[in-house]
Amino acid sequence: MPKITYIDSQGNEKIIDVKNGLTVMEGAIQNNVPGIDADCGGSMACATCHVYVKEEWLNKLEKIEDAEQDMLDMAFEPKKNSRLSCQIIVKEELDGLVVNTPSKQT
Ligand code: FES
Repeated sequence: MPKITYIDSQGNEKIIDVKNGLTVMEGAIQNNVPGIDADCGGSMACATCHVYVKEEWLNKLEKIEDAEQDMLDMAFEPKKNSRLSCQIIVKEELDGLVVNTPSKQT
């Protein structure tokens, strides 16, 4: 199972084995990772699953869709490497993926 590293704004790190086919958000929710609330359940309507993806992983992700970008534009402190973790589907190639949560999400 791919290992996903979640790092909060304080630098606390959790490394979780997430099943292929789940989203990075679902991996967090199922393992009580703080900082990812996913209020809308993954329907791109809340941005409480906003993460910063470590730069070297950005081009391994599916292209960002307009609806995701629109939601990110309204998120807290969006950056170039912002993604909605509910839109990142875990697969073998993402083994080792590192995401950080914004300081507002604790
Ligand atoms: S869970 Fe709401 S936008 Fe991702």
